[in-house]
Amino acid sequence: MTGALPLGSPISERSVDAREDPEIRVATVDEILDLRYRVLIVGTKRASAEVPGDREEKTLHVGAFLNGRAIGCASLLPAEWEGTHAWQLRCMAIEPSFQGKGLGSSVLAYLEDLALKQSPARIFWCNARIEAVGFYEKQGWRAVSEEYVIDDVGPHRRMLRRLGPACTELEEERHG
Ligand SMILES: CC(C)(COP(=O)(O)OP(=O)(O)OC[C@H]1O[C@@H](n2cnc3c(N)ncnc32)[C@H](O)[C@@H]1OP(=O)(O)O)[C@@H](O)C(=O)NCCC(=O)NCCS
Repeated sequence: MTGALPLGSPISERSVDAREDPEIRVATVDEILDLRYRVLIVGTKRASAEVPGDREEKTLHVGAFLNGRAIGCASLLPAEWEGTHAWQLRCMAIEPSFQGKGLGSSVLAYLEDLALKQSPARIFWCNARIEAVGFYEKQGWRAVSEEYVIDDVGPHRRMLRRLGPACTELEEERHG
């Protein structure tokens, strides 16, 4: 295991022990910013891996950690969907050398379960990068928009996952 790397350093397969299972757990935003930066920001015109609401109390961050280093992450921010309590999924990222091994689906499932325990909201939505739409569809999400472009990032589709009965109305229920 190597020591701390400077921000934005790639993690080679040699720097982690891939024989160990990653630990998936609640994370702080600071633990996952570097991974977000390398996977989601490099190659765009954006400068920061932080998004508005990241440090709000009710925002949920989950990470997959191997030898203490984040190799997967995703976040849920309280948000509305058509006047109803909902969660917006943001910044889902898996270290490139660990993609395609089931880690993304495990991180997302962990995060959804966590949200269901913490809030009556049963609706999840996100602005999905076009190349990730197929991944979300396999996790039970569905595309609910045509393709649109987010400046500095590229083409997206809005995706939705609705679980259980319709969520309570905003004015009737406390969120979380
Ligand atoms: C998209 C991403 C999060 C998926 O994570 P992952 O760990 O590679 O995905 P998994 O291995 O858990 O895949 C789960 C299933 O989805 C499928 N899948 C994964 N990525 C896919 C893709 N881009 N398109 C279609 N299907 C995909 C897998 O084949 C697998 O299918 P299976 O259940 O039939 O075996 C990851 O590849 C990533 O970080 N990509 C770059 C950043 C990104 O695009 N993030 C999303 C921003 S909206």
